[in-house]
Amino acid sequence: MNGPSPRITGLGRYVPARIVTNDELSTMVDTSDEWIRSRTGIAERRFAGEGESTATMAAAAGSEALEQAGVKPEDVDLVIVATSTPDFPLFPSTSCLVQSALGLSRAGAWDLSAACSGFVYGLVTACQFIETGSQRCILLIGADTLSRSLDFSDRTTCVLFGDGAGAALIQSDPEAGGLLSFVLGADGSRAADLEVVAGGSRSPMTAERLALGQNWITMNGREVYRFSTTVPVTALVQATERAGVTIQDLDLIVAHQANARILQTAAHNLGVPEDRFYINVERYGNTSAASIPLALYDACVEGRIKPGALLGFMGFGAGLTWASAIWRWQGL
Ligand SMILES: CC(C)(COP(=O)(O)OP(=O)(O)OC[C@H]1O[C@@H](n2cnc3c(N)ncnc32)[C@H](O)[C@@H]1OP(=O)(O)O)[C@@H](O)C(=O)NCCC(=O)NCCS
Repeated sequence: MNGPSPRITGLGRYVPARIVTNDELSTMVDTSDEWIRSRTGIAERRFAGEGESTATMAAAAGSEALEQAGVKPEDVDLVIVATSTPDFPLFPSTSCLVQSALGLSRAGAWDLSAACSGFVYGLVTACQFIETGSQRCILLIGADTLSRSLDFSDRTTCVLFGDGAGAALIQSDPEAGGLLSFVLGADGSRAADLEVVAGGSRSPMTAERLALGQNWITMNGREVYRFSTTVPVTALVQATERAGVTIQDLDLIVAHQANARILQTAAHNLGVPEDRFYINVERYGNTSAASIPLALYDACVEGRIKPGALLGFMGFGAGLTWASAIWRWQGL
């Protein structure tokens, strides 16, 4: 491809200080450290504290990404926040709060709703602006505060999720690299597999719906498990084909951190060693849109990603949605 390429020049992260271990959850619901670890690989997660929200976490992550890239706030053209847990149910968008908090005086701002696939959807969206040459500097953040929508009487869901934010600064670069291919997909006929029923325009919040607990996340765990180990995996293979590479060529797969078992099964289905998938779910649980940028950040810190590496991004989640991308890492 000729023309400017997208390059990730800065990464940032924020996780709340409060660590919630499996043992602590066991004091709230009928579960155990052994059950959670063996079924999910999760050992602990972070929960947002007082004064923390999706916007505050997103701004902290975004600030670190700007600092790492050495970019001034006024040089950012767009800020996109992928989230399912905005600070406000209608408006303003969380991205507007981040725009203000970081002083992104020239930036357009909007939120992107694709649940746990949101960061990869956002990455692909941001890259379109860079590749056409219309924008040169985009701050993409995945951030979610799912702890505030968990039903702590439902042990099948409340043990899975945590809070956090991850950010990537994407800039225009003359050298080829960045996004090589992508596959975006959705199956809205399966919306009910993972949903929050009340609080939107279809079922506005009422005292009755609140009493029924319709403000909490509900999930058909087995169906979501089956989906997560198949459809996104096929999409990743399609993305490699579109990029003219194979799964074996990928140096690291940075996938949505829903559950270690899902990623181990995906590795098996793809015929690659388990360590080809980066996994940090044991530390944070499922942080939805934040999980892929948090994984990317930690993988870089741990030296798992070298300049020139070929990465596979694999997102999947509520909607149902999935998003895969093949990325040539040019170095920060
Ligand atoms: C949720 C999930 C871990 C459940 O694992 P599972 O092996 O399918 O477990 P099941 O739902 O079959 O339940 C098995 C038993 O464990 C019990 N159980 C469920 N959650 C439990 C918990 N936290 N602690 C202890 N026991 C639990 C169930 O009640 C059930 O008991 P029963 O056999 O007496 O009825 C698994 O389905 C999963 O990972 N799904 C995908 C979830 C996900 O990642 N969603 C987000 C995608 S973006």
